[in-house]
Amino acid sequence: MDKVVLAYSGGLDTSAAIKWLAEKYNMDVIALTVDIGGVSDLPAIQQKALKIGAVKALTVDARETFVNSFIFPALKANAIYEGQYPLATALGRPLIAKLLVEVARKEKAVAVAHGSTGKGNDQVRFDVSVATLAPELKVIAPAREWGMTREETIAYAERHGIPVPVKATSPYSIDENLWGRSIECGVLEDPWVEPPEEVFAWTRSPSACPDQPEYIEIGFVSGVPVSLNGEEMDGVTLIQKLNELAGKHGVGRIDHVESRLVGIKSREIYEAPAATVLLKAHQSLEAMTLTKDQLRFNQKVSCEYADMVYNGLWFTALRHDLAAYVDSAQRNVTGTVRMRLFKGNCMVVGRKSPVSLYDYSLATYDKGDIFDQSASPGFIHVWGLPVRIQAKVQGSPEQ
Ligand code: ARG
Repeated sequence: MDKVVLAYSGGLDTSAAIKWLAEKYNMDVIALTVDIGGVSDLPAIQQKALKIGAVKALTVDARETFVNSFIFPALKANAIYEGQYPLATALGRPLIAKLLVEVARKEKAVAVAHGSTGKGNDQVRFDVSVATLAPELKVIAPAREWGMTREETIAYAERHGIPVPVKATSPYSIDENLWGRSIECGVLEDPWVEPPEEVFAWTRSPSACPDQPEYIEIGFVSGVPVSLNGEEMDGVTLIQKLNELAGKHGVGRIDHVESRLVGIKSREIYEAPAATVLLKAHQSLEAMTLTKDQLRFNQKVSCEYADMVYNGLWFTALRHDLAAYVDSAQRNVTGTVRMRLFKGNCMVVGRKSPVSLYDYSLATYDKGDIFDQSASPGFIHVWGLPVRIQAKVQGSPEQ
């Protein structure tokens, strides 16, 4: 019998998909659960897949790859979609797609499958990634094909003896990994309604935060965070610790009316404590170690990079080449950033770098100033030359 490898989360849709794929496509289903930071009990998920009827249930701990090959490249690029969304889900999908392809090749499967619906961005990210990496594989998206409402899916699951997780009866649709958590649906679909406290799981409400601020120091080498409070640690640990620490201080709540690739505006709530802290720290270190021209150019790259990640174009030549530029541009983004976490805010309060472009003797208004102020009139004379000529010939537009 033909085989299909299904990206299996253990949730309602992908559980129903195991049965549905076997029935509708008459294929052997291999379930693949990828841990990129949002999975609680891998063995339990594995058992569940087998119980529902998967012929094999595989798991991969891909957290390290996720951090080093997806999250950190995006952090170095300051990739934030529409100025708000740090792209947690968008970064996770291409990695899951890559692992699906790897398993499909090993197991000689003819298809891969994922749980995305036909209305979102995730289908695009999976389909385009697989098509790039393994054009010979068919991609099946059961939830895009079966035309069942959520209630009908629950009924389908119950009919087939699939245990319906308590989470499936909650009105919210949630996705999470190391870089953040997203919450959609229910009352959140009214963009005027303030998110109820119950949607948040990683961040405290500002009113429940500690009354004392907490200071932290993040060390970067060439744009990559390598230490927290002076202690060197691997990326996975650093992000986990920051999610906890910053979440405790209510940092990282985002409320975004977002422009989906498929044309829909959707209201998304995110919790991204570590991403919020690290992106802010990284940007402040760049401000100290890069020139004005580099900073301006990097903003354009950030914007392109974020759009490509969001739009499912991770495995493309342009994304790859932009990443090479970003890596090169990060070689001097080294130093330490000091931040204050307090009641929902994180503020940069200090930064230092062995290759800082900040020069005290140039900046100071006190004794020790070496800036030659007598050179300024000459500079201004030349700088203002085109402006003066234009005003003389054409007059000033303000008059
Ligand atoms: N809107 C976000 C994105 O497109 C989050 C999507 C969350 N996905 C989900 N299946 N709940 O990246």
